[in-house]
This record gives sequence, C-alpha cells and structure tokens, in this order.
Amino acid sequence: MIPIEAFPTLELNLVVNGLPRAVNVNPCVTLLDLLREYLHLTGSKKGCDHGQCGACTVLLDGKRVNSCLILAVSREGSTVTTIEGLGSTSKMHPLQSAFIRHDALQCGYCTPGQICSAVGLLREGQAKSRDEIREGMSGNLCRCGAYIGIVDAIADVMASGSTLLEDQ
Ligand code: FES
Ligand code: FES
Repeated sequence: MIPIEAFPTLELNLVVNGLPRAVNVNPCVTLLDLLREYLHLTGSKKGCDHGQCGACTVLLDGKRVNSCLILAVSREGSTVTTIEGLGSTSKMHPLQSAFIRHDALQCGYCTPGQICSAVGLLREGQAKSRDEIREGMSGNLCRCGAYIGIVDAIADVMASGSTLLEDQ
C-alpha cells in the first residue's frame, strides 16, 4: 500500500463559515478530516467514519452531507457551514436555542451533526409532521437516546416559522 504521505498535496480553496480558506491538502483527506485536522474546527464529530451515524454532518453548498464520505479536494470552490458557523454563545442559531430549551442532548457528541442536519431538513421543506421529522433525521444516530427532545426542538423551530432558512 502506498503511504498517504507519498501523494503530493493540492491547493484547495473553500469558503468555510463565511471565510475564504486556502489549504494544501493531501488528495486522500476527507472533508471531515480537513475541517478537524487542518482547520481545527472540531465541532463536527467523527463517529463511525463510514457514513452511518451522522455525527460528521455539515452543510455543503447549503445541503446537509456526511463529511466523512467526501474527499475534500473534490469540492474546490464550495461553501461549507459547520456548527461553529451557525451561531455563537452570544447569538445562537434558533435550532441551537431550541436544543437547549428542549433538553435535546445528553453527552452532546451527536449534537453538532443533529443541528446541522436539522437545518438542512428544514431548508429542504419536506418534513411537515413529527413523523416526517423522525424520518428525515433517521441518518443521525444518538447513542444517548435523546430523540424525543431532538424531535421536540426541531418541531418547535419548524412551527415558529423561524428565519433559520437564511443562507449561512
Ligand atoms: S462519522 Fe460520518 S457518518 Fe459517522
Ligand atoms: S446526546 Fe449523546 S450521542 Fe446524542
């Protein structure tokens, strides 16, 4: 097997959380590893690293994706929003506030992915009921079983007609 270090790095330009970022990256690196290891944005979590848990969900060009399944160099020029770009302690995104209000987490490991996925779900505009929220969020697992609070939080924001659909 050829060691990863043997591949030449490529320059990659992305807009991450509203800021232009240029990095020289190994072509084998996933978007998740780029965010965590190169850009030190550790909000996005590595759970399974195989596209099965949703912990690594971010918004890529406005759509939710499992960042562990995407080669970073394949997304030259794209826009990425992570949990760090959705809101801050002093100005939380409506879904971040709702997760706190509804106690929608225990250990919090899945939470960044849950919130990014929920933003994507609401932007898609397909979910109209609690069952459809559950279906739409089925790719995001929570080992702590905080599902009732998660659905409550998303349903709350959906019902509020919040302007969370604005592009971030
Ligand atoms: S870490 Fe990407 S889906 Fe699990
Ligand atoms: S809150 Fe612990 S995994 Fe979801």
